[in-house]
Amino acid sequence: MKVAALIPAAGSGTRLGLGPKAFVPVEGRTLLGRSAAALTPHVHEVLIALPAGLDLPGDVPGRAVLGGDTRQASVLALLRATDADVVLIHDAARPFLPVRVIHDLLVAVQEVGAATAALPVADTLVRADRAGDWGTLTPREGLWAVQTPQAFRRAALIAAHEAALADGHAATDDAGLIARAGQPVALVPGDARLLKVTTPGDLLLAQALARVWDAEAS
Ligand code: CTP
Ligand code: MG
Repeated sequence: MKVAALIPAAGSGTRLGLGPKAFVPVEGRTLLGRSAAALTPHVHEVLIALPAGLDLPGDVPGRAVLGGDTRQASVLALLRATDADVVLIHDAARPFLPVRVIHDLLVAVQEVGAATAALPVADTLVRADRAGDWGTLTPREGLWAVQTPQAFRRAALIAAHEAALADGHAATDDAGLIARAGQPVALVPGDARLLKVTTPGDLLLAQALARVWDAEAS
């Protein structure tokens, strides 16, 4: 069984405001470099979707693929560039990836066909009106926050992507496309360290986390 890691890294990082986000360093290593290095020991190949005009830095292991205008388009370009049986899709923007999560996903994808890291929601949830006033309380029981990595049989995910493309359907992640195709997705325990670096505040958290993470690795 051939496994490929697919890393969408072609975003522009608008909310962070420091240029293409995958290339932003945290404690001396880029988000992309950290994500790719975490996956490399566990897969047969690593493919990385990049923005037009940017090359893979020499210290990032993997093969570059031209990304698209949306995350969904970037993932489809990656899917079309590999013949692996199983794909592990992981956002470049989540640089701290525990090995345990990778192992759990590779077990679950063999049993179920699709699996994602996810965490139970801990905060109280409300749907607010436009003014930002308290609207409807949404019980958090049974609600999960979905992370990456996510693992799939490549053939099933390509079919789900092509169906979504034909219908003009936009999804925020790949597990959502498999669910839309009527197929099951297993939830495996995610990890708080899998935070997605989205805003300047997230970058501060990531810098603090990197010091602990790098000290544990050395
Ligand atoms: N991504 C991608 N291709 C795109 C858009 C996003 O490969 N056209 C990737 C990003 O590089 C990131 C992941 O998808 O690793 C999650 O996207 P997000 O956190 O939204 O990153 P950006 O789109 O770069 O950030 P923003 O939305 O703030 O511009
Ligand atoms: Mg985005």
